[in-house]
Amino acid sequence: MKLAVFGHPVSHSLSPEIHRSFAAQFGLDLQYDAIDAAPESFPDALGAFAKAGATGCNITLPLKTLAWEAAGRSSDEADRARAANTLVFESFSNWFADNTDGRGLVRDLKRLLPGGPADRRILLLGAGGAAAGVLGPLLQAGATAVHIANRTPERARSLAEHHADLGTVRWSGLAEALSPDEAPAAPYDLVIQSTSAGHAGKGPQLTPDLFAPGALCYDLNYGAASSALARWCADHEVMHADGLGMLVEQAGLSFALWTGHTPDCRTVLKALRSKVGTPGS
Ligand code: ATR
Repeated sequence: MKLAVFGHPVSHSLSPEIHRSFAAQFGLDLQYDAIDAAPESFPDALGAFAKAGATGCNITLPLKTLAWEAAGRSSDEADRARAANTLVFESFSNWFADNTDGRGLVRDLKRLLPGGPADRRILLLGAGGAAAGVLGPLLQAGATAVHIANRTPERARSLAEHHADLGTVRWSGLAEALSPDEAPAAPYDLVIQSTSAGHAGKGPQLTPDLFAPGALCYDLNYGAASSALARWCADHEVMHADGLGMLVEQAGLSFALWTGHTPDCRTVLKALRSKVGTPGS
């Protein structure tokens, strides 16, 4: 079975290692490569890969929307997010696009919190591609309400409107949502950090008042990008998780789409954790 992850850059991707570990659980002969493709050359590279007999692929930044556009058929999750992280090549010209990011997050949240996002008041920081990928599944998993807070409020509004039929979604600018005086919906049971600010070593300007007792702060980032937030949470005794569990879970869902096998994600997460380390440590 021939698979790959496409991205730009992609050399840092943990997906080849994760999928090879899944394949080993079932004794499957699987080739999984990392292919760097710039957006201009991505459609041709994808076509060539499908023609070469590949089963499908994963897609990471900045190619997820292009991948969704390239497929003839797509799941509801991919359509909501307008982005795909998984393609299944049913034939060399007949492609199905899915987005397993949000379902992967929900599965990881169920590992960390009883019932996962169900009946939780959620603050979603950021309204970019990562937020768009998880909002629908969070609402479908029974979140009480999701408040989207973004530096550019217009993007939060647009994302909220695009999901209003799935549940209670509110929006605001980031500064308003984080200010204790102006945050009427606080405290939250779950704060999900989806901005890319952590890549510049910055954490969001949180206050402890945002968190209800026992609340979880979940960062979709992992590794160094999650360190500043992990330190803040440790200093303020807020439970923190990085996005490594989501990464493995979304991969498990993609793997099942291609192979029909449901892998044991926890074993793979444990092995990866000892390699990547705990954020903030
Ligand atoms: P991704 O696909 O990783 O979500 P993106 O679509 O470029 O990437 O979105 C990045 C998100 O991080 C956005 O919500 C962005 O806010 P804006 O919409 O206002 O640009 C947010 N972001 C990036 N840097 C940030 C910073 N320094 N402070 C706060 N938010 C930041």
